[in-house]
Amino acid sequence: MKVISLNTPSTASTIYIGKDATKSRLPALTNGVKCFVVTDSNVHALYGDFFTEYFKDAEIFVLPAGEEYKNFASLQAILEKMSAAGLHRTSRVFAVGGGVIGDIGGLAAALYMRGISCVQIPTTLLAQVDSSVGGKTAIDLDGVKNVVGAFYQPQEVLVNPTFLSTLPPREIKCGLGEIVKYAALNGEIFDCLERGFEDLEKLIAVCIEHKARVVERDEKEAGERKSLNVGHTTGHAIELTSGLSHGECVLYGMWLETDMAIKAGVCEKEYGARLKAIVKRALKNEPVSKLDLSNVKAFAGKAKSDKKNADDNKIVMSVAKAKNEWTVWALSFEEYVSALEKAVLDWKREELVCEQ
Ligand SMILES: NC(=O)c1ccc[n+]([C@@H]2O[C@H](COP(=O)([O-])OP(=O)(O)OC[C@H]3O[C@@H](n4cnc5c(N)ncnc54)[C@H](O)[C@@H]3O)[C@@H](O)[C@H]2O)c1
Ligand SMILES: [Zn+2]
Repeated sequence: MKVISLNTPSTASTIYIGKDATKSRLPALTNGVKCFVVTDSNVHALYGDFFTEYFKDAEIFVLPAGEEYKNFASLQAILEKMSAAGLHRTSRVFAVGGGVIGDIGGLAAALYMRGISCVQIPTTLLAQVDSSVGGKTAIDLDGVKNVVGAFYQPQEVLVNPTFLSTLPPREIKCGLGEIVKYAALNGEIFDCLERGFEDLEKLIAVCIEHKARVVERDEKEAGERKSLNVGHTTGHAIELTSGLSHGECVLYGMWLETDMAIKAGVCEKEYGARLKAIVKRALKNEPVSKLDLSNVKAFAGKAKSDKKNADDNKIVMSVAKAKNEWTVWALSFEEYVSALEKAVLDWKREELVCEQ
């Protein structure tokens, strides 16, 4: 089992990674403590034995699965149940599920009595490599994602890859999008993916290690933490217009942004070509959706209206520059549209070559 510490000015958090992570930590974490579990309907149905084994005396809140339940009404219902269960300052919340559960369960723990202990048990690949680590918690409001939230570090994160055995391919691909994002920032992960996937557990651990070090240096995303948005400006815009999964859109976004950055001389040519090849290989994983790239202006418009990416009328992207190097790259809307159109042409050209 791998153990990673994440120390910020506010908390010390410990992340345990391995098939024994839950078995070895849960008895101590649940012993003599009032426990409250937040999970979703899919995870609850699949892992009944797990809940019976470790949480037989705990209050279990089962949220229907889906992003649409990451909202205020669910948060209120969770907090009311916590209060009704008589949780106090020394009680502990366990968020067992994907990123939706981690985000809303973590926020409930942050708010209840101004913050009680929280343990994250991520069950999707995306949550294991990304969302359970780093203390970002949130809900969506009026269609705006993650607009209400808090930075609140979990006391522990228990990453057990065994949960991934029941994950549908679409969700595996979502996690893959984030893993490739780390490859764009970290030479070790880049080399690992270029060689081809070997040991998933090891790969999860190096991704977490990378994120933990970034969060330690920049917990509140004033600078370096923004690097974790590589591929996300264009990816998110594609997600909003296409309805494809987050991971697949991030992969498309990363390919297109890298192509744009190479042409502008922002990203090293040879390195960028290798990164694009890694992205392309990840995109070939099932399910493969055909993305309609004919309406560049439509998704460029979405990038512009995204407050997180737009600054002084500029579209702001975090892009890979060279191995282990990234940069913030800002373009005017017109420059962005023109660069994106050229990248889309490149994509189509490469696709045609592949199909022949
Ligand atoms: N806090 C952060 O830093 C951060 C980072 C990235 C994403 N996020 C958030 O994470 C969310 C996306 O996370 P996600 O992709 O895990 O989505 P999710 O939580 O909706 O899970 C995806 C699906 O997989 C199911 N599932 C979960 N574990 C399973 C298992 N072991 N076997 C079978 N099915 C399982 C869920 O029920 C759901 O249907 C978004 O809300 C996003 O905003 C947060
Ligand atoms: Zn993402």
